[in-house]
Amino acid sequence: MCGIVGYVGPQSALDVVVAGLRRLEYRGYDSAGVAVLADGGMAAAKKSGKLVNLEKELVDRPLPSGSTGIGHTRWATHGGPTDANAHPHLDNAGRVAVVHNGIIENFAELRAELAGRGHGLESETDTEVVAHLLAEEFSGCADLAESMRLVCRRLEGAFTLVAVHADEPDVVVGARRNSPLVVGVGDGEAFLASDVAAFIEHTRAAVELGQDQVVELRRDGVTVTGFDGRPAEVRSYHVDWDVSAAEKGGYDYFMLKEIAEQPKAVADTLLGRIDASGSLSLDEVRIPARVLKEVDKVVVVACGTAFHAGMIAKYAIEHWTRIPCEVELASEFRYRDPILDARTLVVAISQSGETMDTLMALRHARDQGARVLAICNTNGSTIPRESDAVLYTHAGPEVAVASTKAFLTQLVACYLVALYLAQVRGTKWADEIRAVVRDLARIPGEVERVLETMEPVRELARSLAAKDTVLFLGRHVGYPVALEGALKLKELAYMHAEGFAAGELKHGPIALIEEDLPVVVVVPSPRGRSVLYDKIVSNIQEIRARGARTIVIAEEGDEAVVPYADHLIRVPVTPTLLQPLVATVPLQVFACELATARGNEVDQPRNLAKSVTVE
Ligand code: G6P
Repeated sequence: MCGIVGYVGPQSALDVVVAGLRRLEYRGYDSAGVAVLADGGMAAAKKSGKLVNLEKELVDRPLPSGSTGIGHTRWATHGGPTDANAHPHLDNAGRVAVVHNGIIENFAELRAELAGRGHGLESETDTEVVAHLLAEEFSGCADLAESMRLVCRRLEGAFTLVAVHADEPDVVVGARRNSPLVVGVGDGEAFLASDVAAFIEHTRAAVELGQDQVVELRRDGVTVTGFDGRPAEVRSYHVDWDVSAAEKGGYDYFMLKEIAEQPKAVADTLLGRIDASGSLSLDEVRIPARVLKEVDKVVVVACGTAFHAGMIAKYAIEHWTRIPCEVELASEFRYRDPILDARTLVVAISQSGETMDTLMALRHARDQGARVLAICNTNGSTIPRESDAVLYTHAGPEVAVASTKAFLTQLVACYLVALYLAQVRGTKWADEIRAVVRDLARIPGEVERVLETMEPVRELARSLAAKDTVLFLGRHVGYPVALEGALKLKELAYMHAEGFAAGELKHGPIALIEEDLPVVVVVPSPRGRSVLYDKIVSNIQEIRARGARTIVIAEEGDEAVVPYADHLIRVPVTPTLLQPLVATVPLQVFACELATARGNEVDQPRNLAKSVTVE
């Protein structure tokens, strides 16, 4: 939520910063702004709306070129998305500029205090107070990093701050508490950004910033200290994401590209999971096997699409390990006083690794003595860093706000975690585990086949562009798939879309069925539990009898559903538990095409942001 970039080095800071913002626009796109240090002064520009508005402004009113700069793309929290509320915010003298991601909870108090000292604040944001406080501190110590440390000690809430001062023209200073910020170290240049995607075209050498740390960037290196001024250990890592992975690569939208990348993403996530001894391995496990053996409850916490992956994980975890598993929306978790102890394993699923709700849930769990295993797509992000064990999904950067390839890889990761627990606890034999891993290894090819047959789905989506409502039904693992199909449609097409457990239909939602209402039904394999299959076929008949237009997703070779399907979408034969890996794909394509047909922005749906770093 909000994208931040900072740069110091030999290149044009403006060019580097704007290109970085383009990569981070998925984080928020209500307004954008930049500030550069040039000719002993500060020059800034900011515009409401998408980054393109700022780019136009920079053409109409060019800024002087400089080698130090910062930029911001915003997802509004305090104050509407106006030019005045856009970042950067400057002090009254226009010598310091600051950009911010997060929420400063005590800003009203600080604002009143500043007003009392004669500062004129021009925006409605919480951020502007920081520019003024930094200016005050700088006038005392003439050191931006020290000013930042002093100011941060006064702030409450979650924040990433990046600032420049005209009196220190070769320095960018960043600070982080509970919001993401990574450092890139190049040859004679350095970068700061909310996400490595902003600088991977320049450097792969990254430095993690810990909680409550301040970083000072200069051309010749970076210095990291705590808010208390004590030097901090600098932890470097290599970013192995490909530059092209963060580009559209010929597709109209990132979402289309990311849907198409799913076979590779799934294959990469499975890569190297079985070691030489035939055992399954995760990426980082700091939980002793004896602790995992004692686990008596698994709680999955996640938000949005990741939550749907968690719902599917429950079926696999309970079936393969016989450990009771709860799935909880991360935003609800800590507020209901959940029962957790040292025998609870909490699985936190997050593409970005920065979702505040999920982070707070995992911290709460650890405070209560539970162990946390993270499933995450972003190396070096906060959630895996604060967890006891990590399984990384290797989906590569996901830029489109609506999650696709990250979801499929989260599912793979969930299955692997379930199998890992089964391995440690001995509830499945090694050969049984390998058999499931072999089934998973076939999935990339099956997803490829689904993708090759999507034209009728796109055509159907276009034909439904004028509809107001679409319902989604499923049972067992098909239920979370239905929820995910509905979420995709809400996010992208802004339609009333709801997913239901098919068995629940008769308890209320069936009243929604009317003539020609499109209802998507995810049908499980007839080769799995026949009772499950028979029940859903009856549900299809019930809605059809009431006039619904049925769009049936069914396995190849399932002929029994043909008479009840107004539209039939075939998916390859898979084991029952793995079906979501193929059944979700047509729903992604459906939502993407419907949104396009309705003229919506696929990659940047209204009001949303990809990485939500506020609670
Ligand atoms: C936001 C995004 C969703 C995403 C959710 C969880 O709401 O719009 O697409 O599923 O956050 O994100 P995470 O990064 O934790 O998986």
